Amino acid sequence: MTTEWWRSAVIYQIYPRSFADANGDGMGDLAGITSRLPSLQALGIDAIWLSPFFTSPQRDAGYDVADYCDVDPLFGTLADFDAMLAEAHARGIRVIVDLVPNHSSDQHVWFQAALAAPAGSPERARYIFRDGLGANGELPPNNWESVFGGGMWTRTTDADGTPGQWYLHIFDTTQPDFDWTNEDVREEFRRILRFWLDRGVDGFRVDVAHGLIKADGLPDYTPPAEGGSMGGGTALEPGITAEAPATPPYWAQDGVHEIYRDWRSLLDEYSGDRILAAEAWVDPLEKLARWVRPDEMHQSFNFAYLETPWNAAALRTVIDASIAAFRSVGAPSTWVLSNHDVVRHASRLALTAENLQGHGIGPKTTGLPDPVVGLRRARAATSVMLALPGSSYLYQGEELGLPEAIDLPDDARQDPTWFRTNGERYGRDGCRVPIPWEADAPSYGFGPSARSWLPQPADWAHFARDQQVDDPDSTLSLYTDLLRLRREHALGLSELTWLPGYGDDIVAFQTSGGFVVIGNAGSEAISLPDGAEIVVASSPVSDSILPPDTTVWLRA
Ligand code: NOJ
Repeated sequence: MTTEWWRSAVIYQIYPRSFADANGDGMGDLAGITSRLPSLQALGIDAIWLSPFFTSPQRDAGYDVADYCDVDPLFGTLADFDAMLAEAHARGIRVIVDLVPNHSSDQHVWFQAALAAPAGSPERARYIFRDGLGANGELPPNNWESVFGGGMWTRTTDADGTPGQWYLHIFDTTQPDFDWTNEDVREEFRRILRFWLDRGVDGFRVDVAHGLIKADGLPDYTPPAEGGSMGGGTALEPGITAEAPATPPYWAQDGVHEIYRDWRSLLDEYSGDRILAAEAWVDPLEKLARWVRPDEMHQSFNFAYLETPWNAAALRTVIDASIAAFRSVGAPSTWVLSNHDVVRHASRLALTAENLQGHGIGPKTTGLPDPVVGLRRARAATSVMLALPGSSYLYQGEELGLPEAIDLPDDARQDPTWFRTNGERYGRDGCRVPIPWEADAPSYGFGPSARSWLPQPADWAHFARDQQVDDPDSTLSLYTDLLRLRREHALGLSELTWLPGYGDDIVAFQTSGGFVVIGNAGSEAISLPDGAEIVVASSPVSDSILPPDTTVWLRA
């Protein structure tokens, strides 16, 4: 049996802005994370992944990095990072940091130097500057649209005040894309990797790992209307397609792979099983598996799984396809239901109208979820996920059953998506609201003050951790039980066998870890097998009748 920890790990995503605020300024910080590590140890996760805490103007919540090797004062200092890392390691929790290589902040010294330098200079060659089209260069170099809405190009102004070249940004204007064909860029990122590896991190989650290389000549491209903003599908459609869709010229170009091979050999110089995990929204799974070939990354996020609705047939298909695709290259499958870019699954799984990834939901969205149905399905879906072989990602707050915050006031929203689409897309703020720890404390114990960078819903007290920790029926207790059983029975390393004889609406499988897992995604109750011994249930089960939207683990 293999000992590589990441093949079966449960990795908990911390969104530092919203996890715990030690100094009371309304913004989470590293010292806050350190203080709350005992709760994560009690939950029973193996590792944490921290979204960016680096020096940043925070135009995209830290995914706009101005200095890759320092901590933004909002979150603390490098010493705070070292203290957090040491405390996590002392508690047996590994730490993965976010690497953002596709683009920097426009405040990065390199980009400032590029703006100050003339067209054709080495400074400009680290980014993607081009002359505009039209008689006076007044048109952007091509028709690409930013993930956040609006164009993918911004025109610069030369020192004498005249309009100059344009630069490319897949995301916000303040996030210029690096030119990864430039050796300067490659060398700088080797330095950044070493900086954090030398500090002792256990790996990197690689942001936009399908975006670094653009097709030669930057040809025009119009994406299909039904695509999600990061290149995936919609939240209500089965997340896998039979055939590869046409590859956009800014996603999933073959040239990215040599970069990851280079990084893999760099990581392999370090002891201790350090990992690279790709944030790559690539369809289909067979293609995504190229990111985790033996000499590339270790893991890739499985967004096909995340985008699969609570539908048994679709789940069986995506689970089989995931295991097969990743196994074909010797990698574990990963599984994920929520993160800081998608509608939380306690809301998403009960949406009744199509909702594209990245668009978010708000008060005027059609098909808003019934929160009771949503939480019930979320608990059932997580109970399926945590029995699957491979590695699972959790997103802070899902263990509390948090729904998406739908009613955020317009003037509180901060996602660039909201601004760049003039409010047409709500964006991702609703899944980023600071999480509740104590029902009766200001900001529900997020920090010592009542401040919170996004307003917390008035009815969140019952989600607070202190309300759930001693309640055996709480979502927190369900997660804690699932994680304990998963670990005790090595389910992450198990084999899955589908069980015949259940209806189309049922997900039923046996794991070599000793459990039969039955999830009812239909609308009718079913009978459980005679003599079934229920070890854990996502919602109450009586008289061996499994109600809709419920998953049980039975002793095999
Ligand atoms: C993916 C990150 O998860 C998202 O939050 C961010 O906005 C974009 N990449 C740009 O870095």
